[in-house]
Amino acid sequence: MIKQIGERELLGEFAPLLGEVECGRHFDPRNPEHVKWLQWRVKAFIARGARFYGLHSDDGAPIGLVSLLPDQNLPGLPWHGDHGDIMHLGVAAGERRSGHGRRLVEHVEGVARELGHRSLMVSTTEGSEAASFYEACGYERVTVIPGIHGPSERGLVLFRKPLRPADSSP
Ligand SMILES: CC(C)(COP(=O)(O)OP(=O)(O)OC[C@H]1O[C@@H](n2cnc3c(N)ncnc32)[C@H](O)[C@@H]1OP(=O)(O)O)[C@@H](O)C(=O)NCCC(=O)NCCS
Repeated sequence: MIKQIGERELLGEFAPLLGEVECGRHFDPRNPEHVKWLQWRVKAFIARGARFYGLHSDDGAPIGLVSLLPDQNLPGLPWHGDHGDIMHLGVAAGERRSGHGRRLVEHVEGVARELGHRSLMVSTTEGSEAASFYEACGYERVTVIPGIHGPSERGLVLFRKPLRPADSSP
């Protein structure tokens, strides 16, 4: 079941997965400095209006999470509420390739549609497994920003998916 989760769950049962989503293998949940950084990061996203959703297994174990950073129009000006951003997505290592990631993304697409967004954007490392995943989920490559983490690191690929209103035919 996918449900909205808050700071308590994110810094509790979901912290190891969230740390991996943010920093890959560099995040160490036993390092107090890393935990402190994750606390700051979660508070900062929540303060910006991010909504986090968690997926639990039937026995209550956390197996996936996703976040949506929505935007809101200035009344009379349609620009800002046009699109939202997926900021986090992760499925626990032993649970991958079972459709959970796709379900989580479809869930935030539904939320974004309800909020009136016409598209979703997401960025990830160029050539990564996550990039293949977003392509499989119908996201279109918009551009690549090379060298964003340094000249020897892979670039950042930006994806976009137009969202049809829920009641429109394909
Ligand atoms: C990316 C991630 C969320 C995908 O979750 P998942 O539950 O394994 O994905 P799904 O099972 O829903 O996969 C849907 C489709 O995406 C594609 N896909 C998923 N993982 C893939 C991979 N490692 N390589 C290539 N294609 C992949 C496939 O087409 C897949 O369909 P299939 O299994 O029928 O072939 C997961 O691998 C993950 O948590 N990775 C580590 C964290 C991360 O990279 N997060 C994204 C940061 S932006």
